[in-house]
Amino acid sequence: MKEKMENALNRQVNAELYSSYLYLAMESYFQSISLSGCAKWMRGQVQEEMFHGIKIYDYVHERGGRSQFESIDKPETQWASPLAAFEHILAHEKKVTERINDLIDIALEVRDHAAKAFLDWFIIEQVEEEATVGEIVDRLRLIGNDSSGLFYLDAELGKRVFSLPAK
Ligand code: FEO
Repeated sequence: MKEKMENALNRQVNAELYSSYLYLAMESYFQSISLSGCAKWMRGQVQEEMFHGIKIYDYVHERGGRSQFESIDKPETQWASPLAAFEHILAHEKKVTERINDLIDIALEVRDHAAKAFLDWFIIEQVEEEATVGEIVDRLRLIGNDSSGLFYLDAELGKRVFSLPAK
């Protein structure tokens, strides 16, 4: 694998682990305001982002590359409201989508069609992530200050069960 591709994939491993850390900070925030369903939903995100990071790590090694290890940025730890937290996620996931698009640009630039095919999985994943979070943001905006609506949504999000996607 070309060095440029390998370095970019390694940076993405770091970014996915940062995402996992950010969602862990959100889980803690939701626990602190006793919205245990939202907290449980965040745990699913924590595991999913860790899975994404490891999936790229494995791919780098499968291609004969070597991981690089850098510091993981400190995430925000406090939000003004559940809506503010989910709006943060939506903005964050849109940035992640841009990063995946940039990775695909690099794959095409260095004519690494195998890496491009590998990254296509992440493009589909991002469409799903943005749609899911966008819907939660819409619902929270509709709920506004109605606490019974918030508790209902919290209970619904708490039903999330994380299972590892098939390879
Ligand atoms: Fe790994 Fe939420 O993207």
